[in-house]
Amino acid sequence: MAYPVHRPRRLRRNPVLRDMVRETRLQPGDFIYPLFVVEGRDVRRPIASMPGVFNLSLEHAVAEAKQAKALGVPSVLLFGIPNHKDACGTQAYAKDGIVQRAIHEIKAADPDIQVIADVCLCEYTDHGHCGILEEGHVVNDATLPLLAQMAVTCAQAGADIIAPSDMMDGRVTAIRRALDEVRLTEVPILSYAAKYASGYYGPFREAAQSAPKSGDRRGYQMDPGNVREALKEVALDVEEGADMIMVKPALAYLDIIRAVRERFELPVVSYNVSGEYSMLKAAAQLGWIDYERVMMETLTSIKRAGSDLIITYHALEAAKLL
Ligand code: PBG
Ligand code: ZN
Repeated sequence: MAYPVHRPRRLRRNPVLRDMVRETRLQPGDFIYPLFVVEGRDVRRPIASMPGVFNLSLEHAVAEAKQAKALGVPSVLLFGIPNHKDACGTQAYAKDGIVQRAIHEIKAADPDIQVIADVCLCEYTDHGHCGILEEGHVVNDATLPLLAQMAVTCAQAGADIIAPSDMMDGRVTAIRRALDEVRLTEVPILSYAAKYASGYYGPFREAAQSAPKSGDRRGYQMDPGNVREALKEVALDVEEGADMIMVKPALAYLDIIRAVRERFELPVVSYNVSGEYSMLKAAAQLGWIDYERVMMETLTSIKRAGSDLIITYHALEAAKLL
């Protein structure tokens, strides 16, 4: 008998065969596209650290969401950047706040576009933290009603999904109760359940103008060394009634995505965050990597790890290639 007996290369002989036995396939429907909405008219301001990503005024945000849909990307995740910030993040839960108006406009333009509202205070507070501050400390329980109010105003504006990203304890319960109270029982919650205190959020904070003025987020976001804690966070959010769960960031946390996938039955969403995007853009600008190839490989790895959906700034570029 000829050796070796086992020749896995047999199935790699040509592109058609390789395609036939491929285990993980990306499709445009896997992606969720984040948008940063600002006040004003005809604003399309580039984010220096995120080439290809912009601060968009309402009409541009609507156009971008429509373009996503035309490419097969069904959903957008909205972040609002208000003109006015204060200690309590008032504009986060104002009925006519920037994000509430953006939700309304996109749904009015095309009701099929699934609009996800990121619920957090950091873009709206003058101190840049995700909750209210007392003596320099982010207080948990006093923050919950504000998050719940933001969720309600976003859902009333037409948001299809509410996505709390603040990492306060008990916020899924607070938001679920508040939504149910105003009879928005059918609006699902996508919880940023396992969200790590990550350096990879750097470029996002430029885009969303949401960097904390003092201190950092380590007092509420998770420590990068922990995996059991991630499973506990997810279990709590599931118990509190989350409909989908998120792991964030994605690339440095593929083991967490896999662990969550294996332990829980809900859809798993992974956030391919700003720093992950910017690293590829920077390396590509230097001519050090083949951008499209590395982008597709990265997105495939996030899906292969167990993600049902991927939030990514690459969404439109990747959808065009598929
Ligand atoms: C707000 C929020 C952040 C991100 C999503 N929602 C930033 C943070 O927690 O500082 C990060 C997204 C990214 O880096 O692309 N809480
Ligand atoms: Zn925040």
